[in-house]
Amino acid sequence: MRRRVAILISGSGSNMVRLIESMAGDHPGVAALAVSNNPEAAGLTKAEALGVPVAIVSHKGRPKAEFEAELDAVLRDARIEVICLAGFMRVLSAGFVARWTGKILNIHPSLLPLFKGLDTHAQALASGMAVHGCTVHLVTPALDDGPILGQAVIPIRRGDTPDRLAARLLPLEHRLYPAVLRGFLEGVAEKTVILEG
Ligand code: GRF
Repeated sequence: MRRRVAILISGSGSNMVRLIESMAGDHPGVAALAVSNNPEAAGLTKAEALGVPVAIVSHKGRPKAEFEAELDAVLRDARIEVICLAGFMRVLSAGFVARWTGKILNIHPSLLPLFKGLDTHAQALASGMAVHGCTVHLVTPALDDGPILGQAVIPIRRGDTPDRLAARLLPLEHRLYPAVLRGFLEGVAEKTVILEG
């Protein structure tokens, strides 16, 4: 039985597109739903164009508990088994995460456990590190924490800016997330590692 996967977005949804495209043929997952908290998210039309049902669950002007209760209901109505956060800009509460323990994946644009939170490319540049990257991890109640499932690594070059790093990293995010999701659904224990080049 293919596992029903939901992808949660807030913006452009480029990682979502790659995840949807990857779930074809004999893939162990099926892209069953795309959910955005932002009605304006460009990713919503991309999901529709790919034939994936979409839902909007707005967080605006309501208590977080109410937002999360609707999100949970939408996911359960669609019989979702695995959730992929892909540029989903809301922090899920410990209560929500507990209801989906071990079933939520996230992609974060840094080599965790370094540079949690926002502005990760600027954080990496300011650190003086020679490499940067992205991480797919299981979501636990602590922000940008949880077991690491895979990472992709790029060099930091002279003259790099946060925008340049982001632009060089995104294509690796697009390779990493589908590879990790497939391995996760197949029960592969080995972490996925991708090096630029
Ligand atoms: C990506 O950089 C991802 O790592 C971060 O948010 C961005 C989402 O981009 N969590 P997109 O919406 O997938 O294009």
